[in-house]
Amino acid sequence: MRKSYINPKFPSLWHGGDYCPEQWTPEIWDEDVRLMQKSRFTVATMGMFAWAKLEPSEGVYDFGWFDEVVDKLTKGERWFILGTPSAAPPAWFSNKYPETLRTRPNGVRQRHGNRVNFNIGSALYREKTREINRKLAERYGNHPRLLAWHLSNEYNGEDYSQDSIEQFREWLRSKFNNDLGALNHAYWTAFWGHTYGSWDEIDPPGTPYGETAVQGLTVDWKRFVTDQTIDFMLSEAEPLRELTPDVPITTNMMGTYPGLDYRKMAKHLDFISWDSYPAPKKPLTDPQTWITVGFRHDLMRSLKPDKPWLLMEYTPSSANWYDVMALKRPGMHRFESLHALAHGADGLQYFQWRQSRGGQEQFHGAVVSHSGSNTRIFDEVCEVGIELDTFNNLAGSTVKSEVALLFDWENRWALEAACGPIQGDKKYEETVPDFYRALIKAGVSVDIVGQDDSLDRYKLVVAPMAYSLRPTFIEEVKRFVKNGGHFLTTYLSGWVDENSLVFEGGFLAPWSELLGLTSEELDALYKDQTNSVDFLGENSLGVAGQFQATEFCEIVHPTTAEPLAVFRGEFYAGSPAVTGNKFGAGVAYYLAARTETALLDVLLSKLARAAGVSSVVDFELPMGVMAKKREAEDSETLFLLNTLSEPTVITSEKWGSISIAPYNAAVLTKSRELIA
Ligand code: GLA
Repeated sequence: MRKSYINPKFPSLWHGGDYCPEQWTPEIWDEDVRLMQKSRFTVATMGMFAWAKLEPSEGVYDFGWFDEVVDKLTKGERWFILGTPSAAPPAWFSNKYPETLRTRPNGVRQRHGNRVNFNIGSALYREKTREINRKLAERYGNHPRLLAWHLSNEYNGEDYSQDSIEQFREWLRSKFNNDLGALNHAYWTAFWGHTYGSWDEIDPPGTPYGETAVQGLTVDWKRFVTDQTIDFMLSEAEPLRELTPDVPITTNMMGTYPGLDYRKMAKHLDFISWDSYPAPKKPLTDPQTWITVGFRHDLMRSLKPDKPWLLMEYTPSSANWYDVMALKRPGMHRFESLHALAHGADGLQYFQWRQSRGGQEQFHGAVVSHSGSNTRIFDEVCEVGIELDTFNNLAGSTVKSEVALLFDWENRWALEAACGPIQGDKKYEETVPDFYRALIKAGVSVDIVGQDDSLDRYKLVVAPMAYSLRPTFIEEVKRFVKNGGHFLTTYLSGWVDENSLVFEGGFLAPWSELLGLTSEELDALYKDQTNSVDFLGENSLGVAGQFQATEFCEIVHPTTAEPLAVFRGEFYAGSPAVTGNKFGAGVAYYLAARTETALLDVLLSKLARAAGVSSVVDFELPMGVMAKKREAEDSETLFLLNTLSEPTVITSEKWGSISIAPYNAAVLTKSRELIA
């Protein structure tokens, strides 16, 4: 596999972060460059919040100070990423053009302030952001030290301005080919007499002010918000693409952020970058944190699976918006850094370089703190910077997987919109990582895919709670299994189409031949209620044991599927809880209950083996150890990450015995060299 760099101009691992020179004086800039050199901070990301200083009044641009900063960085042999400033327009701008400010669901337009507070649908805002972006591209686009464009900052939220409402109606017209009858049918608006008589009657859903009882509408609004945000993003990118076609473009994403379908966005970007803040609720010392963050890294990585990605932001210490600003314990920063590299990152960038004296984030962790650079944090950042040189051969290499795990934004929205089978959170965002955890425990590498991704490169595909299905995905899965793939799906899958209409023929209908099952009904359990899933002796997967079921138990009837486990309790005792069905050259499995994770551990490890998935390592992983491998044509690097507070020892034929300290990693090359 050939190496693929984020920008071949600088084919190394990047180490840098958000730098806000607009807050400081030239003397501090000099000090910054000196400290950047000392800490091997190679890439400064600038400009996202500098609009007010770059254009202090309308049409009056001041690039002099920025030229000086860029010169100093260049002389100091640093690189830079340039942000476009759309996230925070100047106050004069909002006052002059109030229609460019965001409108809330209740129709009230916001006042100037905060950030990402713009009307995504405003043609004027698009024009004005293109103007400032053009100026930036003209001035810095050909700079030899410019590595990438960073569009805006964490696009998010929804806008309910008249512009956006009308765009939504247009979007619906286009989706339904101008056929209002088709929309009414798809949304089943005859229920409660919600039938629309004209396109203008359709308002966006908007909790708690608007329609919340038309599921198809709710999901379509979210689809629209993604498309509208992409449209805005493409408008911003226009002058950059035109003037600097060779400079790669990204925007900083937010992992599992629910509001945008990042898969759609990713198609328009040259590389993926994202902001990881893993400990808002729990300390970093909790091993589950590393699974959760690993899942998010793999989710982001899989948006462009053949390319490395950039960790655009993480904190060298803690974030000021955490519930508790616990400090990163000594060594934890290094561990978080190695963990990201192991998942395919080609760069580690901080928020932020220098702590701001005032403002919302004055207490947020930074490389250079209010106490200066003679600090533990600065030293730990220096250590990471120096150590990155050891790993430089990693740059351009990627992570390969034979297992795909489905995490689909549209499905997530449909599940959220569904009123039942329990109220509130159906825990899709927790359930998919539970399956991920079991796969990681089994020592296999996992890509996180969506319903539009091709399954060709995989041997095993796992689709938990695949509630809302698009026809193309159903066909892709059938093709995949027919050709020899192994597939697992679960309770609550295949219930509704992409408009949240229950499939004709009932739950599971569109793939009941594939699964060899029909589904009759689903029992939702109260919090303190449980059932048991008992594996049958002699089942073809060779799984044994009894496991607790909670929350969801689906009652299914095999047509051709083999029952592998059954429910023990309730009136549906004896009905299948796990099944397998041969279909073409492959097998499709169904797990009809939410269960304790121990069942997932054993089931997924058996399935990976049955599907012929190769393991990342040739030995059983001790508890709490994650194994990740990065590969390129000439190299292979194995990371063994100990996420526990206790030391651990691995023993393998190939590597012998290696002991790994708590929150530490063994990093091994193909030539059996231990490089960390
Ligand atoms: C986000 C933003 C940054 C900063 C950090 C603080 O990721 O992109 O500008 O506010 O959060 O954690």
